[in-house]
Amino acid sequence: MNRENLIQHLRNLPANRRVITALDVPGQTQALELAGSLGTDGGFVKVGLELFSAAGPDVVRSLREMDRNIFLDLKYHDIPNTVASAAKMAAAMGASLCTMHASAGRGAMEAAAKALATAPVPEGAVRPALLAVTVLTSLSEEEITEVRPSSDNLNDSVGRLAALAWDCGCDGMVCSAADLPVLRKAVGDEPLVITPGIRMAGAATDDQHRVTTPRMAVDLGADFLVVGRPITKANDPAAALVAIANDME
Ligand code: C5P
Repeated sequence: MNRENLIQHLRNLPANRRVITALDVPGQTQALELAGSLGTDGGFVKVGLELFSAAGPDVVRSLREMDRNIFLDLKYHDIPNTVASAAKMAAAMGASLCTMHASAGRGAMEAAAKALATAPVPEGAVRPALLAVTVLTSLSEEEITEVRPSSDNLNDSVGRLAALAWDCGCDGMVCSAADLPVLRKAVGDEPLVITPGIRMAGAATDDQHRVTTPRMAVDLGADFLVVGRPITKANDPAAALVAIANDME
C-alpha cells in the first residue's frame, strides 16, 4: 500500500483503535492477560522493548490472533541494511506500526521505507507504517548537548529530523504533545503522528513531565495516542480506555 493510502487507512480507524495501550509487562502471559482485560475496545496495543525482549515474535502473533493491531516499538538505530531487514521482519509479523530513530540517518530511513514498500505481510494484513522518533522526549537540553553538541536547540532538532524523516519516505513520527506544534509546522498535516504522555485532566502524571489530555493532543494534531499506566493500572482498564477514546472525540 502506498504512503498516502496507508496513512488514510490508519486515520480512518475508530477512536478506540487510535488509543494504543502499551503492554509494558515482562512476559507473554501477562501481556495476553492484560490485552484480554481491555475487552473488544482495546484493539490496538504496543509491544515495546521489554515485552519483545522477553517474548519475541510469538507474542506479536498471539496478539494478532486476538484481532489486535500491533505497534511494534523497537526504535531501530543501525546501518541501513540491518534496519531494512528488521523492518521486513516487523512486516512479516503483521505489525501495523514500527519505529526507528531519525538520527540513524537518511540511508537507514530510505532503506527501511523501501524495504517496507515490497515486504511480504501475513494474509489479511497491510504493511506497517514506519514512524521516526525525532528526539526522545526523556532527553533534557543538557543531555542532548552532551551527546551531540550543536547550535540546534531542541525545537530546531525536532523540526529538522521530522522533515528529514518525511523526505526519506517515513509515514510519520512519534513525539510528545509538547513538540506537536513545532513538528506540524515543519511537516504539515500529512504525516501520521503518535503521541505518548497522555493523562486525563487531574490524573497522576507518574514520571512523565509534560502531559496532555487526549482531547488536547488530538487538537494539537496527534492521530494516535500511546497510553500506558492510566489504562493498565486502572481498576477497570476497559472503562479507562473507553473514557480516553471518548475524550478524543
Ligand atoms: O504509562 P505511560 O502512559 O506514561 O506510558 C507511555 C508509553 O509511551 C510507554 O510505553 C513509554 O515507553 C512510551 N513512550 C513515552 N515517551 C516517548 C516514547 C514512548 O512515554 N517519547
